[in-house]
Amino acid sequence: MATKTLFALLLAGGAIAKSACPVVNCTDVSALSDYSTLRLREVGARNTLDWRIWLLRDGKPISFWHDVPLYPDESNHQVVNMVVEIPRWTNGKIEIKRTEPLNPIFHDEKKSLPRFVENVWPHKSYPFLYGSIPQTWESPNFKHNFTNFEGDNDPVDIIDIGSDPGYVGQVKQVKVLGGLALADGEETDWKIIAVDVNDPLAALVSSVEDLEKHRPGLAQTYRDWFTYYKVARGDGVIPIVGDTWQNADFVVNVLEESHGFWQDLVAGKVDTGEINYNQTSDASLESFISRCEAVDELSIPKKNAKKPAAAIPEKYSWWYYLDADYKLIELPSSS
Ligand SMILES: *[C@@H]1O[C@H](CO)[C@@H](O)[C@H](O)[C@H]1NC(C)=O
Ligand SMILES: *[C@@H]1O[C@H](CO)[C@@H](O)[C@H](O)[C@H]1NC(C)=O
Ligand SMILES: *[C@@H]1O[C@H](CO)[C@@H](O)[C@H](O)[C@H]1NC(C)=O
Repeated sequence: MATKTLFALLLAGGAIAKSACPVVNCTDVSALSDYSTLRLREVGARNTLDWRIWLLRDGKPISFWHDVPLYPDESNHQVVNMVVEIPRWTNGKIEIKRTEPLNPIFHDEKKSLPRFVENVWPHKSYPFLYGSIPQTWESPNFKHNFTNFEGDNDPVDIIDIGSDPGYVGQVKQVKVLGGLALADGEETDWKIIAVDVNDPLAALVSSVEDLEKHRPGLAQTYRDWFTYYKVARGDGVIPIVGDTWQNADFVVNVLEESHGFWQDLVAGKVDTGEINYNQTSDASLESFISRCEAVDELSIPKKNAKKPAAAIPEKYSWWYYLDADYKLIELPSSS
């Protein structure tokens, strides 16, 4: 550091020193409530398989999945926390790594390559912010009531339809409006629709029906998007149990239930499969680890080590067109 900068820092005194280097109370395991203390640690090159992002609380790593509370305010279950994995109009399939300690964000893989989604006309990549709901679990251990399919072994997925483009690893508060019960590959895979509580729309809508007044056609368009978004890569359309959006009350219940499944997961009460459920929030459970010890004990990088992003393959900048039955339209080849 240049002497001049160091001098300026010394002069600026307590306030700056504090925010640059927070005092960590390692025995404080109270639930996360001050979201402004969250930071990210990024390592590797985007669009590659070994890229990772960890979530930090007071500079120490915590799990996006197990340590961010489901409800920002316990008394209102219609507002939940959302972990943004995929910012709007980006096409990398980015998600929480369930098998690694403290579950960093990574780039999902398909056939040993980073996975991207195609642009299905008239949409560009993911047309909304896409992410997951902490402290929920689509348990694969039994068939779920409404869908009659086992869960897909992930946290519940959620989209934010507001104007914020978002960023990878963002933790935000959203209001739940409804949800689609996808049966993807015969697994329960809910897609919750929500809006950022700070978006002007949030004060005007509380359900998918309300949405029709202010965003006509949006719910139907996104419903259809979820059925056909894998068609261009060669998959079929994805069935939706109940065919359309379930309402907010129903979905609030689904989330309460899946929170219960997650509680059994971190308590080690059920078959947890491959999930790494080390957590830094509940010292009464065996899965607890102090966030001050996690870096060493779980071998988590101590510093940012971001590299320039790798190029995205060209075909992900192309358009793909579907016919009225959501079949891919292929032009006759010229050979
Ligand atoms: C650290 O947190 C614990 C538990 O919340 C609390 O009892 C203790 O007073 C805190 N210590 C300091 C130095 O703030
Ligand atoms: C599933 O449905 C049955 C019958 O309605 C009910 O008794 C049971 O509590 C439900 N299970 C869950 C996990 O909601
Ligand atoms: C915590 O992480 C370590 C290292 O990956 C792993 O061996 C252990 O099983 C994990 N514990 C839990 C509760 O997931």
